[in-house]
Amino acid sequence: NDFPPYIDGLVKSFPHQYVTTPEFAKKAEDVYNLSPRPDDVYISTFPKCGTTWVQELVWMVVNDCDFEKAKKEQLSVRSPFLEMNYMLPIKLAETFEMEEICRKAISLVLGDRLRDLEQINKMAGPRIIKSHLPLYLLNPQVLSTSKVVYVARNPKDVIVSYYHFHQLLQFHQYVSNLETFADYFMTDRVYSAPFFPHLLDAWNKRHHPNLHFVFYEDLKRNLRGEIVKISQFLGKKLSDDQLTKLTEHLRFDNFAKNKMVNCEKQEVAGLENIGKEIGLMNISGHFIRKGKTGDWKNHFSSELNERIDEWMRKNLEGTDLRFITEL
Ligand code: A3P
Repeated sequence: NDFPPYIDGLVKSFPHQYVTTPEFAKKAEDVYNLSPRPDDVYISTFPKCGTTWVQELVWMVVNDCDFEKAKKEQLSVRSPFLEMNYMLPIKLAETFEMEEICRKAISLVLGDRLRDLEQINKMAGPRIIKSHLPLYLLNPQVLSTSKVVYVARNPKDVIVSYYHFHQLLQFHQYVSNLETFADYFMTDRVYSAPFFPHLLDAWNKRHHPNLHFVFYEDLKRNLRGEIVKISQFLGKKLSDDQLTKLTEHLRFDNFAKNKMVNCEKQEVAGLENIGKEIGLMNISGHFIRKGKTGDWKNHFSSELNERIDEWMRKNLEGTDLRFITEL
């Protein structure tokens, strides 16, 4: 009950604290019980850590760099979002009493075909499954059966990116400024919080043979090298030519323009403007926004930065996880 109004209705679910929708809390057990397959690859992330980037990367590696298919089909169709169906903004659906329209609008904005577990269960393999759930909310058999690529990013840039995302997708109903948002973030009052347990759980499992832990900042520093490492982890070998083309395909400038991944698809018959009409997507923003390490320096006051440093110091105490906050 100390939640800010913009996430009124969210709950903290079991078994650890986890901020999610009431709808997901009801389905958490079903999601937990999803049967993992040996050829599944999960992309597990806290939001805004580079999920979409690595999802496309992994899909390409697993599918032998099928650029033709990637050009024709939305990433969100090729690679389902495990808990998407339960992240429906309940309040919005109630307000408009048009759940179906909301679903279509979200599918328009996210370029998504909403998936329920049944559809994911039936999907032909190999499945590349995106999830923002921390590993502790996924069935432990996922790690013993399938492969997991976990992407982490420094929290300063995550805060800035997540703040912009809240402005972009207005169903979050976030109306305040970045400083207040950072406070919500640090006190675990945003979707998918708390941040540190999410990352630390995966960090502590990073030596598991079925887990590959990668930092966003390393992808920024050496994309080609990280593609090679991920390919090796997935038991695939790309040719030099494939590697060159894939690195180019994933480079920020190209990625941001790619309509199959940038969530800017606007062509659903009859729904051209619905996203804007119901305030789902702020037309002045972009999902693939800036793609920088250190953008936080353009946003934080020195006072806020000191508070974030202190929050990071406390949460990293006794751990060997360290972040790169500038490149
Ligand atoms: P910014 O908001 O800082 O630009 P997610 O996919 O987990 O939601 O993460 C989104 C963040 O990853 C955004 O960060 C986005 O710009 C960044 N991103 C997406 N594609 C990228 C790419 N090809 N290169 C660098 N950053 C990328």
